[in-house]
Amino acid sequence: MSNITFDFTGRTVLVTGAARGIGLEVARSFRVAGADVVMVDFDAAELQAAADEIGGFAAQADVSKTDDVERVVAATIEKFGRLDVLVNNAGILRDKVLWKMSDDDFEQVLAVHAGGTFRFTRAVVPQFRAQQYGRVINVTSYTGMHGNRGQANYGTAKAGIIGFTKTAAKELAAFGVTVNCISPNAATRMTASIPEEKIAELSGPIARFADPAEIAASVEFLASEEAGYITGVVLAVDGGVSM
Ligand SMILES: NC(=O)c1ccc[n+]([C@@H]2O[C@H](COP(=O)([O-])OP(=O)(O)OC[C@H]3O[C@@H](n4cnc5c(N)ncnc54)[C@H](O)[C@@H]3O)[C@@H](O)[C@H]2O)c1
Repeated sequence: MSNITFDFTGRTVLVTGAARGIGLEVARSFRVAGADVVMVDFDAAELQAAADEIGGFAAQADVSKTDDVERVVAATIEKFGRLDVLVNNAGILRDKVLWKMSDDDFEQVLAVHAGGTFRFTRAVVPQFRAQQYGRVINVTSYTGMHGNRGQANYGTAKAGIIGFTKTAAKELAAFGVTVNCISPNAATRMTASIPEEKIAELSGPIARFADPAEIAASVEFLASEEAGYITGVVLAVDGGVSM
């Protein structure tokens, strides 16, 4: 799917979890729309291959580590002179029923999803404030709104991201910054193990998982200048499953 709707020429976009899946398609869409794109992932080999493929700037980092996050934001501003859009997309799963879930399963999932979102958003605030412009798009999930068996850690993290988004939206509006969430439902490595017969049940009236490029289009919309009056929302891009 090509994307020619939005023009991000002269904008710098940072996408976490960009080595594959939704993050890679989001990064690709912003490149097609003319942006400089910083691609962050902790999987160095896969990240470099993805960045070479689309012409992005690879920045290996673990979003759960404050030093990594601050290093990447500083390097981005040094290289491109500005940062306009932050997409907090990196994620992991450690699914287990809660009575078998270890402290580590719980804490790691929170540290990557909610912690990474917090760390990167905090780190970009000085630049967004100086520019009086910025867009943050976070990634939540059906599980964060409705729960899902085996995902007490993930549900806690993804619900937390919604609370974080609304709080940051209120705190940063005065600086020309909007903060929103998408709730996707896409065919990626994360959903690859779901059996065929469960896909219709998990994907709502449209009865299929999205192509990640369909998710990327919604991220571009929220990142556009035209979406400047939208903040603090959860945009479900999920085929209607959460309605
Ligand atoms: N696929 C779906 O249907 C779906 C549904 C709801 C929410 N989501 C969310 O969308 C986001 C992307 O999911 P996806 O399906 O593309 O998954 P994916 O597993 O294909 O990609 C996730 C990427 O994040 C990277 N990553 C993980 N931990 C990291 C860390 N600590 N630091 C840096 N990078 C890290 C991984 O290396 C990987 O490249 C996640 O936040 C996920 O929870 C996906």
